[in-house]
Amino acid sequence: MKCQYRKRCGRNYLVFFITIVLIISGAGAGRAKKVKLVENFYRSSCPPAEYIVRSVVNHFLSLNPGLGAGLLRLHFHDCFVKGCDASVLLDSITGQPLVEKDHPANNGSLRGFQVIDAAKTKLETTCPGIVSCADILAFAARDSIYKLGNIWYEQPSGRRDSTISLLTDVSGNLPPPFFNATQNAAIFANKGFNAVEMVTLSGAHSIGIAHCSSFASRLYPTVDPTMDRSYAAVLKRICKGDMAKTTVNQDGITPDRLDNKYYVDLIGNKGLFVSDQSMLINESMKKEVVKNARYGSDWSRKFVTGMVKMGKLGVLTGNNGEIRLNCRVKNTN
Ligand code: HEM
Ligand SMILES: *[C@@H]1O[C@H](CO)[C@@H](O)[C@H](O)[C@H]1NC(C)=O
Ligand SMILES: *[C@@H]1O[C@H](CO)[C@@H](O)[C@H](O)[C@H]1NC(C)=O
Repeated sequence: MKCQYRKRCGRNYLVFFITIVLIISGAGAGRAKKVKLVENFYRSSCPPAEYIVRSVVNHFLSLNPGLGAGLLRLHFHDCFVKGCDASVLLDSITGQPLVEKDHPANNGSLRGFQVIDAAKTKLETTCPGIVSCADILAFAARDSIYKLGNIWYEQPSGRRDSTISLLTDVSGNLPPPFFNATQNAAIFANKGFNAVEMVTLSGAHSIGIAHCSSFASRLYPTVDPTMDRSYAAVLKRICKGDMAKTTVNQDGITPDRLDNKYYVDLIGNKGLFVSDQSMLINESMKKEVVKNARYGSDWSRKFVTGMVKMGKLGVLTGNNGEIRLNCRVKNTN
């Protein structure tokens, strides 16, 4: 009898609980209609959108593959600061507060802006006012990954562009190269990525360049003991004089191929930054590095998942933001 009573009671609680959950989620959906990104967002509004971006990217990358690295990093720096809203593309205006581009983490090292501009110009003649700069950047990063790594994925779209960019929003949101992997894991955690996902995404350092100033403290005055001695000697021969003007390839094995050789470099103590090499100090990150070095196609699958997730950070959708007509300036209205 008693047991029966308790059972009934338990079921009533369950029904009550489910009802409350339904009410809350229903009310939430009504209040803030959160629009999600979708694949093929421009299918009817601008059918050739993705094709146009891809052909522009392929053209520029066939002349200079390094621009693909630049585009991938641009997308990352866009998404980690205030979401993937193309705020990183806005130019500063004299007399107004400095923008994201002006931050030391960006100024002088971001590249690929001309590719975005060229794609935007083409898109504005084909479908004026339809395709956002944030989506162009996300497509361009995806297309660079394909061109340099032969890794393909559908890039969900429907992002809109911010009307503001501030240098002061950058600090604390972008991982510095002189932080160790534990410190940077905290920055990634703030964006919803765990340490394993950080290891996966860091594989992007398999392409592109770095300025000597980003790792000079590992060479001078004394060589970082966690760096391979002969690699340090090679770097010291390149990095002398103006550190801010000299660059090296990030991946010594296959500098223009987006592959898992970055992880092979790390195991050989040939990582460029403290942030790269210190992933070996943490046991779980080290395990992931070793797995990625060994199983390249597993890494590419994880990398795709990570990129799609990154591309959804803090996006503006629906009626929020605008479709910029020129990616470097907000619309006047
Ligand atoms: C784990 C934390 C990370 C740190 C500390 C970091 C830091 C850096 C630094 C300092 C540079 C070189 C800048 C220069 O001196 O010119 C660089 C380059 C680059 N980073 Fe990262 N990064 C991180 C994660 C990522 C992620 C998640 C991506 C993309 C998914 C990425 C993509 C790139 C690319 C492609 C380049 C080469 C850019 C070029 O050649 O123009 N990085 N990164
Ligand atoms: C960005 O870098 C350029 C060239 O090094 C320099 O002249 C300029 O002052 C820098 N901008 C800011 C805001 O620091
Ligand atoms: C990372 O840096 C922090 C702060 O300097 C330090 O406390 C920590 O021990 C370092 N972790 C590793 C794994 O080196």
